[in-house]
Amino acid sequence: MSNAHTSRISITDLAAKKEAGQKWAMLTCYEQITAEIFDEAGIPVLLVGDSAGNNFLGFENTIPVSVDELIPLARAVVTASQKAMVVADFPFGSYESSPDQALATGIRFFKEAKVGAVKLEGGAKVVPQIEKLIAAGIPVMGHLGLTPQSVHALGGFKVQGRGEDGQRIINDAKALQAAGVFAIVLEAVPAELAAQITKELLIPTIGIGAGVNCDAQVLVWTDLMGMSAKMPKLAKAYRNLRKEMSDAVGEFAQDVAAGRFPTADQSFN
Ligand code: KIV
Repeated sequence: MSNAHTSRISITDLAAKKEAGQKWAMLTCYEQITAEIFDEAGIPVLLVGDSAGNNFLGFENTIPVSVDELIPLARAVVTASQKAMVVADFPFGSYESSPDQALATGIRFFKEAKVGAVKLEGGAKVVPQIEKLIAAGIPVMGHLGLTPQSVHALGGFKVQGRGEDGQRIINDAKALQAAGVFAIVLEAVPAELAAQITKELLIPTIGIGAGVNCDAQVLVWTDLMGMSAKMPKLAKAYRNLRKEMSDAVGEFAQDVAAGRFPTADQSFN
């Protein structure tokens, strides 16, 4: 009997990487073609992030994103990949009310998109939600530090956990680990704090703006490719695809205007 999911990266594979001191990369992914490319390139974890809001769905930030909008994206990423673990982000408003609400959201992502895990933002206050999901067999990734769904409560996109506030994030990380999450994203926290948390936890940390000592690193793929109009300080553009694409569509439009496209190669007898 064939089952594509049995060959995917699992939470135990990620635990083994931490044990072996092997660092790994996670990327956001919102649709079919990039899922194929990133999976073929060997990226072990693809995150259907709520950053789809401001990278794919046309919103200003992640807050307006809904479960109904993310499910088709997650389904496309799962269908187009073979090896990667696909993690779906719980959007704002889909889990905060109660553990039952979180479980209902998790069940939708599991049944309708067939993801392998889910991610939600927050510390000790979301432990009941995490416990409910894990008890139902849904692996959970945590997310601490700068949690973009709380941008208004945090007073903007600011580094979290500086000075004495660091202890709050350490406590939250330990609470999430005790609740059973299999990994924690640490976003925009001082590198030294992330290094300490990474050392003290048994589960992998995944950094974004959290220094080099995390067990893994994640980037929003449009930032990595230099496609975003505004690059956050925590991201690195490995290519300038915004310019490449702009140049390419400009050439196409000029060729059309000048009657150079299509040529005989793209025409039929
Ligand atoms: O939605 C997202 O892209 C994320 C990553 C930045 C971790 O949560």
